[in-house]
Amino acid sequence: MAKKKTSAKTDHSIKPAPRMQLQPAEMRYAEELRALAESDTAPRPENWSLSPGAVVDFICGTDGVKVGKTKASSRVITEKFVGSRNLIQRCVVTLAGERGLMLVGEPGTAKSMLGELLAVGISGTGAFAVQGTAGTTEDQIRYGWNYAMLLDRGPSPEALVPSPVMQAMQTGKVVRFEEITRCLPEVQDALISILSERRMMIPELGDEDASVFATPGFSVIATANLRDRGVSEMSAALKRRFNFETIAPIADEARERELVNSRATAMLQTGNPSGDRVEIDEALVKLLVTIFRDLRSGRSNEGWQVNRPSTVMSTAEAVAVATAITREAVFFPSGFDPISRLPGHLLGVVMKDEAKDRERLLGYWDGPVRRRAEDGSPLWKRLLELRVVLEGEEPGA
Ligand SMILES: Nc1ncnc2c1ncn2[C@@H]1O[C@H](COP(=O)(O)OP(=O)(O)OP(=O)(O)O)[C@@H](O)[C@H]1O
Ligand SMILES: [Mg+2]
Repeated sequence: MAKKKTSAKTDHSIKPAPRMQLQPAEMRYAEELRALAESDTAPRPENWSLSPGAVVDFICGTDGVKVGKTKASSRVITEKFVGSRNLIQRCVVTLAGERGLMLVGEPGTAKSMLGELLAVGISGTGAFAVQGTAGTTEDQIRYGWNYAMLLDRGPSPEALVPSPVMQAMQTGKVVRFEEITRCLPEVQDALISILSERRMMIPELGDEDASVFATPGFSVIATANLRDRGVSEMSAALKRRFNFETIAPIADEARERELVNSRATAMLQTGNPSGDRVEIDEALVKLLVTIFRDLRSGRSNEGWQVNRPSTVMSTAEAVAVATAITREAVFFPSGFDPISRLPGHLLGVVMKDEAKDRERLLGYWDGPVRRRAEDGSPLWKRLLELRVVLEGEEPGA
């Protein structure tokens, strides 16, 4: 019998991906971080990569920081979080102290993004993170074991598998705890002793003093979504160990439009075969942001009452809609009318929880959309003609 050809040994080592779909913030903003660190002469808390002021500049942006030793050149630091500078300042001050930082708000208000940016600005990495789910266990907050080693040799420091929280304590970094309120309260409470005593005991090692101590620079940023089970279920003891900051949707309409435009443009760079910069239709963004804001707030700019759907009309969803419609225009350019796709996408955003939300959207069409169309705006007239889409019809089908 012919000998079966043996295949080359499988290489199980993890190699860096040649191209990443989404770069972590420390890579995306590596140059800005370098420029800030170079020009930052203010004192830094122990183990921080930047001073508190430079962390705020990294997140809120600044006109220019000096770079290079010989030539007087400067580098603009882009605005990443659209919102109050004071809020970011408070967050940074909290993280320099003993308490954790809890970012709460509606979905899609950039809580996770802000948490990552704060971790990257302070620690140079956002990699230490725990994602809270209904299935999160205490091991994921404290430590687990390599069971093969544990059975072979018994509990030993080598058999211990540290959680991201433990690693952050050992290295003096910021750890992020995403969606903390999705975890069971007893699991959340594993953080209480970590935040107050800054120490994690490991009784299995047999030694009464076996503990990991937090080194300077360690702190915790948690995020909580107001639509989830809720902050009210967190234990009072844990709440007392956090400073709470509420993240609100973007207040200014023009800034929200700019953000939707710039984020969607950036997102379209991935998956675009030509690699060319794609322009987003200005009228599309204008309509999209106006509609989202009206439905989010329950009141139009003109002061008309709007029946709000039960779904959250977040900026993040507006970015996703602008991106999806423009991507369709890239792939199917012939005779493409971006506005014609808007009602279908809006229905997709709105119809997530309650069937009644379709009626609410139809009510919006019969109210503000009709009134603006009757006032003579051609864009709103065009939208009014597309009302049939909301009733399930596909024009041109
Ligand atoms: N104020 C803002 N500044 C900058 N970007 C924003 C802002 N609000 C929303 N965004 C956009 O929304 C995206 C989503 O944000 P992110 O996922 O961080 O929200 P979240 O509050 O964590 O939502 P969720 O509660 O669903 O987890 C961001 O990547 C950004 O494009
Ligand atoms: Mg989030």
